[in-house]
Amino acid sequence: MMSNISMVSSNQVAAARLRVMPSVEDDRRGITDILLDSGIFNRSDAECVDGMFGEAFTRPGDDNYRFLSCWEDGAWPGAFDERATGHDLVRDGSRLAGFACYGREALTQGTWDLFWVCVSSTARRKGAGRALLAEVLRRAQQERVRLVVIYTSSTDKYAPARRLYESMGFVRTARVPDYYAENDDLFIYTQRLASKE
Ligand SMILES: CC(C)(COP(=O)(O)OP(=O)(O)OC[C@H]1O[C@@H](n2cnc3c(N)ncnc32)[C@H](O)[C@@H]1OP(=O)(O)O)[C@@H](O)C(=O)NCCC(=O)NCCS
Repeated sequence: MMSNISMVSSNQVAAARLRVMPSVEDDRRGITDILLDSGIFNRSDAECVDGMFGEAFTRPGDDNYRFLSCWEDGAWPGAFDERATGHDLVRDGSRLAGFACYGREALTQGTWDLFWVCVSSTARRKGAGRALLAEVLRRAQQERVRLVVIYTSSTDKYAPARRLYESMGFVRTARVPDYYAENDDLFIYTQRLASKE
């Protein structure tokens, strides 16, 4: 799974640089590993995402799931140390820091759903989540999407995600008590995009 790993000393670590781009089929395994290592999602969640990834590539199109990958150029803690990158997909000196999956919400006109966003546990708090969401919003704007919706949980482990959404201009517009489980509510975040007309 890992390729192109060079060994350099840790003091050669420079500032991290993030690039967000459409995922390619070879990112699939790395995305699964990020989910399994997330501390939040379990194997059946990872299998669900894997199924969506498969669909995205067998039936690409406006009405299907779309995936973005965020790559971090060679400057993470322990970069190039094979032991430290055990869970990371590394390609050409960059590692897969996270991904997002979004797409059109069925039965709506101009509404997108951000289905998944996850950043590798060792790449967090460096802007990857923000970069992924910014790219989803940029693409939504470009495609004249009216509304972007995110479903998430009220529990503590999703607090970083809620902070991220709020910091990116999403507003909590609904709460469904006990939706996921007892004392685990559904929060729906939305962001209306300004029409350019
Ligand atoms: C939520 C998640 C995607 C954030 O990714 P990230 O790359 O660490 O986030 P960023 O570095 O881009 O942070 C952007 C902003 O989000 C908020 N944020 C992110 N992590 C936070 C944390 N642990 N505590 C508080 N705020 C946090 C902050 O406002 C932050 O801005 P700041 O760093 O300037 O304070 C990441 O924590 C993750 O993958 N969590 C597990 C999966 C998950 O919960 N997915 C969402 C399911 S609905």
